[in-house]
Amino acid sequence: MGTEVAGSNLAAFLEALGPTFVKFGQILSSRPDLLPPAMIHMLSRLQDATHPAAWPSIRSVLEKEIGRPMDHVFAHIVADPVASGSIAQVHRAVLRSGEAVAVKVRRPGVEAVLTADLMLMRGVASVCSRFPGMKLVPLSDLICEFSDNVAQQLDFVLEAENCRTFGRNFSENFYVKVPRLFDEFCSESVLVMEFIDDLVKIDSTELDDAARAVCALISLRAIYSMIFSYGFVHADMHPGNIFFRSGCTCVLLDFGLVARLSDDEIDAFRSFFYAMVTNGGKECAQILQQSAPYHAPWFHYDDFEIRIVDLVDHHFGGEGRDFDVVTFSSSLFRIQRGSGLRGTTRFIMTILSLLVFQGVVKQLWPRIDFQREAINFLDTTPVRFRMPNVEAVPRR
Ligand SMILES: Nc1ncnc2c1ncn2[C@@H]1O[C@H](COP(=O)(O)OP(=O)(O)O)[C@@H](O)[C@H]1O
Ligand SMILES: [Mg+2]
Repeated sequence: MGTEVAGSNLAAFLEALGPTFVKFGQILSSRPDLLPPAMIHMLSRLQDATHPAAWPSIRSVLEKEIGRPMDHVFAHIVADPVASGSIAQVHRAVLRSGEAVAVKVRRPGVEAVLTADLMLMRGVASVCSRFPGMKLVPLSDLICEFSDNVAQQLDFVLEAENCRTFGRNFSENFYVKVPRLFDEFCSESVLVMEFIDDLVKIDSTELDDAARAVCALISLRAIYSMIFSYGFVHADMHPGNIFFRSGCTCVLLDFGLVARLSDDEIDAFRSFFYAMVTNGGKECAQILQQSAPYHAPWFHYDDFEIRIVDLVDHHFGGEGRDFDVVTFSSSLFRIQRGSGLRGTTRFIMTILSLLVFQGVVKQLWPRIDFQREAINFLDTTPVRFRMPNVEAVPRR
């Protein structure tokens, strides 16, 4: 059985098992450091369940969590959700005080289902590990990591905390908008936040070329400052969680999944990036080796170094400036897998955040210069944010 077939069988198998397993498949599909590309491709087709939960059940979660009858809090709430996923759905509402709000509600019963499912996971892990291509995957570690991820996403208290942290980090940045929370109505399973109108999706025709270039720069600088200035990184910046508004502000939503880097990790990341964009392959190899929590017994540093030097030179040696996170990191992950070295979860999560985000930015403005922008963040001590470089915007 080839990996492609194995991937599609595995996807069907996970779908049949239900929402927790679908989430697990989605998370597996975002791990090119662990799975071969063909399998990633098949798994990435797994979609969240989109049937919204019935309104009465959502309404009762709201009444219970907010602890007051609905009409004491909301002047109006729209029963039809703006969006619904496997964990939560979002409704538009107006508070009695007049503010338009987005109400994000955890689907009723989802916690119990997920908890029971997680217990089943270990059994399923042993089945999965029999699929070709899965033998090298550390499934039990992944399941622990996955439980942590799901727990993070289930707990809206954490999401609210993350939202506030992003709000603080970007409070002086006119170009990045994070919704304000209405704390008194937020709980473990409900978030009430300002409703942000006129969200423009990245593939919208509303954005002309100049706007797309500015949006790309603003959002690239936002993620670089998350990584290099704050070590607090939105780990899920796909097109459903990042939007734009006219006037070129970028709107961040959905703070369920973040990578938090320690000061040492920020330093390691800065050094790694600096070495990378200045074609210092040997330093890159050294940083990767030093930060890895696991080396296989057959790990051989000299071979590893040769391959990393080659990789970095290929991407950063010439004048080409065509840094592509996807090809770079998939080669990096392949070298790591092949050499028996496993990166730290947070290191990998940060690269994966960039990887998810690159899809967004390349769609906005394919010619963006990742390398030059990175250097702006690396050659001085903490840069908070910079005005978009207007010269870099193509004129029409
Ligand atoms: N504050 C908000 N203002 C306007 N729309 C919002 C807001 N929050 C969420 N949405 C809409 O709801 C969708 C889902 O919200 P999100 O927080 O990403 O939930 P999920 O965790 O289910 O992905 C978003 O893609 C966006 O369209
Ligand atoms: Mg989302």
